[in-house]
Amino acid sequence: MKVKNYLPALAALLMLGVADCVVAQKAPQLNKNNVEEVLKAMTLEEKAALLVGATGQEPAGGTMAGMTRKSVPGAAGVLSDFPTLGIPRLIVADGPAGLRISPTRSGDSATYYCTAFPIGSCLASTWNPDLVEQVGKAIGNEVREYGVDIILGPGVNIHRNPLCGRNFEYFSEDPLVTGKIAAAYIRGVQSQNVGACIKHFAVNSQEGDRLEVDERVSQRALREIYLRGFEIAVRESDPWTLMSSYNKVNGTHAHENRELLTDILRTDWGYKGVVMTDWTGPRNTAAEVHAGNDLMMPGYTSQVNEIVNKVKNGQLAEGDVDICARRVLEMIVKAPKMKGITFSNKPDLKANAQTTRQAAAEGIILLKNEAAANANVSGNADPVLPIKDMKTVALFGVSAYDFSAGGVGSGYVNTPYVVNIVDGLKNAGISTTKTMTDIYQKYVEYAKAKFYADRDPLMWFYDPGLGLPKLDEIELTRRCIKAEAKEADAAIITIGRQAGENIDRDADTEFLLTQTEQDMIMNVSSIFRMANKPVIVVINSGSVIETASWRDYVDAIVLAWQPGLEGGNSVADILTGKVCPSGKTTMTWPISVGDHPSTANFPQSMTLYDFKQMRRGGGAISTVDYTNHEEDIYVGYRYFSTFDKKTAYPFGFGLSYTTFEYGKPSVKVSDNNVILSINVKNTGNYAGKEVVQVYVTAPGAAGTSVASQSSIQKPRLELKSFAKTQTLQPGESETLTMTIPVRDIASFDEANSQWIATAGKYTFNVAANAEDIKGSVTVTLNEYTEKTTNALAPKNKFNILRY
Ligand code: GLC
Repeated sequence: MKVKNYLPALAALLMLGVADCVVAQKAPQLNKNNVEEVLKAMTLEEKAALLVGATGQEPAGGTMAGMTRKSVPGAAGVLSDFPTLGIPRLIVADGPAGLRISPTRSGDSATYYCTAFPIGSCLASTWNPDLVEQVGKAIGNEVREYGVDIILGPGVNIHRNPLCGRNFEYFSEDPLVTGKIAAAYIRGVQSQNVGACIKHFAVNSQEGDRLEVDERVSQRALREIYLRGFEIAVRESDPWTLMSSYNKVNGTHAHENRELLTDILRTDWGYKGVVMTDWTGPRNTAAEVHAGNDLMMPGYTSQVNEIVNKVKNGQLAEGDVDICARRVLEMIVKAPKMKGITFSNKPDLKANAQTTRQAAAEGIILLKNEAAANANVSGNADPVLPIKDMKTVALFGVSAYDFSAGGVGSGYVNTPYVVNIVDGLKNAGISTTKTMTDIYQKYVEYAKAKFYADRDPLMWFYDPGLGLPKLDEIELTRRCIKAEAKEADAAIITIGRQAGENIDRDADTEFLLTQTEQDMIMNVSSIFRMANKPVIVVINSGSVIETASWRDYVDAIVLAWQPGLEGGNSVADILTGKVCPSGKTTMTWPISVGDHPSTANFPQSMTLYDFKQMRRGGGAISTVDYTNHEEDIYVGYRYFSTFDKKTAYPFGFGLSYTTFEYGKPSVKVSDNNVILSINVKNTGNYAGKEVVQVYVTAPGAAGTSVASQSSIQKPRLELKSFAKTQTLQPGESETLTMTIPVRDIASFDEANSQWIATAGKYTFNVAANAEDIKGSVTVTLNEYTEKTTNALAPKNKFNILRY
């Protein structure tokens, strides 16, 4: 009887043991051919954990904001690992202007510095995808050599307005430049067997209230402007991952927006990679999973529980979880760790410094270069740059001494050094006057010490590890400047700006020059010009500033951007003519910030918000209506050219030390492609490169008399292609050929959810910049259409709230 009673229990125990054995033997080990098998072997709990980052659960515990302490200290986050299934722990770290990890580790004397490469705006200003791909390779190499799997970059949001605090991380106001440069960056990074993460998808055009702001955008402006750069990069470079943004797009948070993350991204564009959230969470995790947001970062246990519970009680389909989990596994199998690739922790920082020096010099833009004001007195009518026969210069402006290599916030790179302008000039054989150098160097030391002592702990993004804000300028007396004018061969004034994550720029104090800066320019200008010596300005900023009011008082302006750790050398390369400038603007430089229609509803300074609240993820809940104020698709030069608005420097503008002559463009149409050729000849005295831009004027576009069959309004000019010559020696020429798929000139037709290029006459303008058209050709095209989903149609009338 007893025996009989025990039998079922014994049998059950035996079965359990056997089953355990079977599981243990059968647990598949993930590889690129068995993703389905591994997925089937995973429990719901495991799949849920796979979708949620494990930053807080790593052995030494991450921080709330999502910084790893153990795996690779200072990396932004880690994914969950499952050793029994052979699923390794992937590590993701910030970018985009280089890898962001902690430079030191406790109990370890080694250092882990990374190269600060040029910021996005500077990279894009090269208009040279091949060069950007080289930079991407160098970045990818540091990612791999430091044992990281994915870099959180590039950032490709559109420069909707000059005041966005993160414009420095982004490329352009134009989606074509954005997409092409992003694709090149991604190809470069991913050539190193590590992944890129294109961000922030989408319409993350401002930092103010970024967690909650509702960006109300027409379907057309979305497709043609705000999503287009992403689309180009997704189609042309297949990033491993994409980061959804915090903000809402037409009423729904981007990370919970199925129309955005599934209908457009996957159905229309065919994206197969992983979508991850941005870092401030958690929010509605089930909605995120259903939307097609595969990975919740940095990850909280509550999110795992939410997924499990909601599947169990029928609020979330397990099928949705499987779709996301499959994509995460498909990404993991590509990681270096799966391929047994080891890392050295010793990337070739020297070689990468050369890469960044060269890339930055090509992204630096010469905005002005004239003969010294009283050239008729000196008899020298040559433009002041490149500088010749100069031994000593007087260097004004704090930024020359405290030069910023990049912006602040999560995009700040822990760089081993930054070459400032003093050292850059010194390396080029030019010294700086002793008095100025002394005053400024001592001031920088004092101001930094004071800043650290007085730091607002809430300003976490201005923490030492996240970069310093700009220090104030010094007030210099005229007597002091006069003494400098006696000693120096020229004055170089550096105007610096810093900006970054979480805070937009202030129109009055950051776009405009401060009174001290204006006084500095006026005083230096009048005194040096009186002494018949040139005045040169270097702009060390990630974004656009005001120039129209003061540019007449100086002879040359060099827009250095934030050019990475070799910045001072790159600037000196341009000033001395070692490199002939070939960078061009990728955004319009307006006369007044209010000239951009978006300024009317852009948060203009933090006075509108309570900063402390914003940090908690609250803040003013706002709606920004992009369909208002003549805006919509009229972003940047599309607006300035169509509405005849004057610019300080147009889109695509940049001078050279040499001159170029454009031949007559020729055109042919073949297989739905317009193929344009143009001959460019170097007619000046320096070897140099030229960026050629092609703007299309569609039938019926503003300012044309050509009738259109379409009711869709067209901007006067839209960039549809660009190319850069090789270095041309004086007298040398090159024929550039550009292929424009007809699809790329189509507009988005909201009424029919399609791309359409109506039949008719299109003018292709070959230009040196948006205001300097060198020649045009006209082509008659047949109608082209391509259907899309009807995603993100405004559901109800936009509720407009103006600032
Ligand atoms: C942030 C940023 C994002 C960054 C992430 C991780 O909030 O918006 O760009 O990659 O955190 O640090």
